Amino acid sequence: MNRTSDVIVIGGGVIGCAIGYELARRGARVLIIEMRQAGLGATQASAGMLAPYIEGRAGGALLQLAARSLAIYDEFVPQVSADSGVEIEYLRPGTLQVATDEQAASALSEEASRLVATGVAARFVGPPELAETEPLLAPDIVGGLLVPSHGYVRAGAMTSALEAALVRHGARFEIGRVLEVVRGGGCLRVKMEAAHFDARTVVLAAGSWSGRVQIENVAAVPVRPVRGQLVQLESPAPLLRHVIWGPDCYLVPWADGTLLVGATSEDAGFDERATAAGVRDLLEAVCELVPHAWQAGFTGVRVGLRPATPDELPIVGASARLPGLVYATGHYRNGILLAPLTARLVAALILEEHADPVPELSPQRFGEL
Ligand code: GLY
Repeated sequence: MNRTSDVIVIGGGVIGCAIGYELARRGARVLIIEMRQAGLGATQASAGMLAPYIEGRAGGALLQLAARSLAIYDEFVPQVSADSGVEIEYLRPGTLQVATDEQAASALSEEASRLVATGVAARFVGPPELAETEPLLAPDIVGGLLVPSHGYVRAGAMTSALEAALVRHGARFEIGRVLEVVRGGGCLRVKMEAAHFDARTVVLAAGSWSGRVQIENVAAVPVRPVRGQLVQLESPAPLLRHVIWGPDCYLVPWADGTLLVGATSEDAGFDERATAAGVRDLLEAVCELVPHAWQAGFTGVRVGLRPATPDELPIVGASARLPGLVYATGHYRNGILLAPLTARLVAALILEEHADPVPELSPQRFGEL
């Protein structure tokens, strides 16, 4: 096997696959190294919600980057689908963030006005329109904030499509754990237990495991795992028309009647088990919002470790200590949403001389990386 590539991407989650895809379709020879099958980390436990004006509500860089990435989605998904031959369910039915008391309703109504003032389509929906907008919501829900541009993508389908597209563009996959990245003979060497691979550029995109990869003379990247459990229900037809965001859970209705209910947020180290408490909390939360959900079939629970950084923004950019090393990790709650933009930023950094780095995502904000 050829052990030399242009770029080695460490990590085969949605971020690693999207970066590899963008590089491979632009002609780079790409090797992706993943410790298990692609997309089985945080990616498979994601509900694939695309909601910048909820996730980025605090404003700042996350909001801007999330909105930029969502704007790429309309082009990204059909391109990956065409390159892979894999269909990807990607819909923008809007989100409805619901309030269960008058105080929360008035906060949502203010948020609607604030969004409109910044040019984002949004409106507050109160009774009786609420019952027509989402007929199966619990009657004690007093209002909701509708953001029509929001939506979801089926994260598993998108990752499978990216994998297939990568292979069509000549990329290779290697399964195993990366131990170390070192300098060697004018390039970087990625060492695994029983093999090593060389490349001019190495992208560290290993999510929660990024800090466990030893990098020659460079401190560990500050990413910690935050466990998320996601329950999957099914009914013969979709229970909901919108993605629902409630006080204790969010709900993503797929076209086939599957309802994703997410997500817990737990400091549990690298423990990827589902727990009885996590499943109970999610089931109670969904049935408070949608009582019909008690009658739905229970089809499983998924668990992922979200990679969180100290400021909860991703780390995307070149290492100042090890030439050729690029970080693309720490996407925390927004890996799916930020994947298309991250892929473009990293590909530009590697393939173009005058790439435009995003200062807020710089690895050096965390010291000598
Ligand atoms: N983006 C939603 C979550 O991480 O649960």
